[in-house]
Amino acid sequence: MGAPAGAEAVITAEGVAMRFGARTVFRDVSFSVRRGEVFVILGGSGCGKSTLLKLLIGLHPPSAGRIAVLGAEWGDLGGAARRALLRRIGVMWQSGALLGSLTLAENVMLPIEAHTTLPEEARRLIALSKLGLVGLGDAADRLPAEISGGMMKRAGIARAMALDPEILFLDEPSAGLDPITSAGLDALILSLARQTGTTFVVVTHELQSILAIGDRCIMLDKEAQGLIAEGDPKALRESATHPVVRAFFRREAPAEAGAAGG
Ligand SMILES: Nc1ncnc2c1ncn2[C@@H]1O[C@H](COP(=O)(O)OP(=O)(O)O)[C@@H](O)[C@H]1O
Ligand SMILES: [Mg+2]
Repeated sequence: MGAPAGAEAVITAEGVAMRFGARTVFRDVSFSVRRGEVFVILGGSGCGKSTLLKLLIGLHPPSAGRIAVLGAEWGDLGGAARRALLRRIGVMWQSGALLGSLTLAENVMLPIEAHTTLPEEARRLIALSKLGLVGLGDAADRLPAEISGGMMKRAGIARAMALDPEILFLDEPSAGLDPITSAGLDALILSLARQTGTTFVVVTHELQSILAIGDRCIMLDKEAQGLIAEGDPKALRESATHPVVRAFFRREAPAEAGAAGG
């Protein structure tokens, strides 16, 4: 299993709401993420998973509530403290493409160049070690166009890990991958979490991934405008009583159309 139950919280969300104009995406969202665990945010398309991720990494302030990351609330931080906190987290967006004109190693070197004054050889050594971690040690000098979709995701993870983040946020990492490649990516995420102690926050709506990697999860729902489940995914599969949660985890036809789809 992942983090011990007593591990410190690296993220705490309390009463978080997000509205766009008159439209409430979610409200009253409270949860915490413990150091070293793989925490999954799940739910159907449009329920606010990516929006929640943006709040967690301080891209937007929530409409209500508080979010603390590694002991600090984004809203309390000035420019320098904010940059310092940003350096301690890594993000791979759903659309997080590699730059096509750069090799994989050069792509991974980009954030190191942006955030440190290390000389080029040192940057390259770090990039090669991160590519090695994700199984791409032999592909460092290839261009994105020369590798598969699964390898691109791995390279994206290597880039997000370039600065040794304490928390790594992944938005639908297996989107667009076939089931076998997707299972390989899950195995990689799990082994990185266990090997490096990095905390992972992973957005997904794929049941297999959730069961394979999630120490704990929360489930958002569009209709409910908030959380409908929290806990160990395997326990939720066994004993969830909420009809939408149950339908999703047991792959039953949902009571209402669209409840658990992607
Ligand atoms: N900047 C924005 N302005 C207005 N509405 C937005 C904005 N970002 C997201 N939304 C809306 O919030 C809802 C949740 O979006 P999103 O977080 O992308 O869902 P998910 O990632 O779960 O598919 C959607 O209805 C989306 O249209
Ligand atoms: Mg999304």
